[in-house]
Amino acid sequence: MDSTSRQDWWRQAVVYQIYPRSFADSDGDAIGDLNGITTRVPYLAELGVDAVWLSPFYPSALADGGYDVDDYRDVDPRLGTLSDFDNLAAALHSAGIKVIIDIVPNHTSDRHPWFREALAAPKGSPARDRYIFRGGTGPDGSEPPADWTSLFGGPAWNRVPDGQWYLHLFAPEQPDLNWDNAEVRDDFRTTLRFWSDRGVDGFRVDVAHGLAKDLVEPLATLAHVGHEALPDGTHPLWDRDEVHDIYAEWRQVFNEYDPPRTAVAEAWVHPSRRRRYASPEGLGQAFNFDLLRADFDAGAFRQVITEHLDEARQTGASSTWVLSNHDVIRHPTRYGLPPDDKQQVAEAWLKSNGTTPELDRDLGLRRARAATLLLLALPGSAYLYQGEELGLHEVGELSPDVLQDPVFRRSGGLHKGRDGCRVPLPWTIDGPSYGFGAGPAHLPQPTWFGSVSVEAQASDPASTLRLYRSALAARRQLQAAETLDWIEGGGPTVLHFTRPGGWQCVTNFGTTAVPLPHGELLLASGPLDGDRLPPDTTAWLS
Ligand code: NOJ
Repeated sequence: MDSTSRQDWWRQAVVYQIYPRSFADSDGDAIGDLNGITTRVPYLAELGVDAVWLSPFYPSALADGGYDVDDYRDVDPRLGTLSDFDNLAAALHSAGIKVIIDIVPNHTSDRHPWFREALAAPKGSPARDRYIFRGGTGPDGSEPPADWTSLFGGPAWNRVPDGQWYLHLFAPEQPDLNWDNAEVRDDFRTTLRFWSDRGVDGFRVDVAHGLAKDLVEPLATLAHVGHEALPDGTHPLWDRDEVHDIYAEWRQVFNEYDPPRTAVAEAWVHPSRRRRYASPEGLGQAFNFDLLRADFDAGAFRQVITEHLDEARQTGASSTWVLSNHDVIRHPTRYGLPPDDKQQVAEAWLKSNGTTPELDRDLGLRRARAATLLLLALPGSAYLYQGEELGLHEVGELSPDVLQDPVFRRSGGLHKGRDGCRVPLPWTIDGPSYGFGAGPAHLPQPTWFGSVSVEAQASDPASTLRLYRSALAARRQLQAAETLDWIEGGGPTVLHFTRPGGWQCVTNFGTTAVPLPHGELLLASGPLDGDRLPPDTTAWLS
């Protein structure tokens, strides 16, 4: 690799997200761990991914699946040790796979030494200044300082015994940090260096749009703006311009390394402002969740793709494509539910424990395979979520008593939460936890898991696992400059494009088969109908 491509490894990488507690359990305690991931490095290499993104593995009380971090520079003892991390990173690197870790800068956990110190310290102390403490309102201060609500439901303020309140935009166990505090800023740079020195290649930045807040008194009210970031950066909590000063400082740290460390922002911002996060002076890349939110529809896909490629041209970053992650209902399930009001239908389906409305599993999987093959042909990087290579559906069967996600409790049971996509992976057809570990799994796996396990799919050439393997291997060979040309003529329900070098991708979103374009067939997401492309199918040709 020459030095430019060495530096640019991320631009068109396939990044595989691992939710460590649910990937592989090496010691039979029901919780996935770092050594479990290490044992599966050959699997990841065979799958053909370029990088792995590890969701948080830090010490945590799991008030929010590990996004409540007690110590940013250590490993949760249930998941291993720092030396296990080093072994994992070494094993991945020797398999040619880069390592990206999750960094959670908006909030710590309430067990972080800083927060404990803040609680023990008096009002107005430097220890409290690392967080966002304020006096209450109302005659006796018993009302929160502002009307801000938590994204997990309920007020965003919690009262401490001396009467002050602290801000938590997520769970109360996740107090928000004060990014105007110099020590907070310094300490995160130390954390970035700590992991970069250990060989970490990049960072996924949690809630990247939330760090800078307007905390000038009187605090702004949210009553009229809600939680959507605004197109002009004036929201008191989200996507304020000042946040980019922080990332400019981080970029200096990233550039101390060779190759520079990379970063990708999780930033739920107005599309016109996403490019700031992706700029080379900032984090360098930002997630685009628009495909993940789009219906399985040619027009919707084309619009998102066109917009994002334009945006990438303007920033110099590469596009990011995502269909599933640990926060959303898996895409085969989304595509297999009635299309009416997507969000409501999906919520209703989850609440009915996966019974109503009826999920069309085959249709959902067919469409998921077609959408994935399309995504993998796009210029830019593809972020895959563990288990999607098995075509896993969301686990709808979880009963309320096993749920772990704070969303369920804090929404008073209104939203069932995100556990259904976090159920430990099935590796074998049977066994106590379908090969996840020697004992049970921390979330119950459904009985259909064995039939979609790695073992069940590995020897079946038509399986989703084999499709992913073939697609990733072919993509490696076919990958070219970051452009595409649309080919018109297939009608409004067909998307057809070529990449430099003659790689063609065609997807039939319609209801009847269409003629396959000329070319040599390389791969298809499902069976073809002679020389015709059936509905809900993608083909690659050269
Ligand atoms: C985004 C993460 O993806 C999600 O899982 C988490 O709950 C919130 N950020 C809060 O950290």
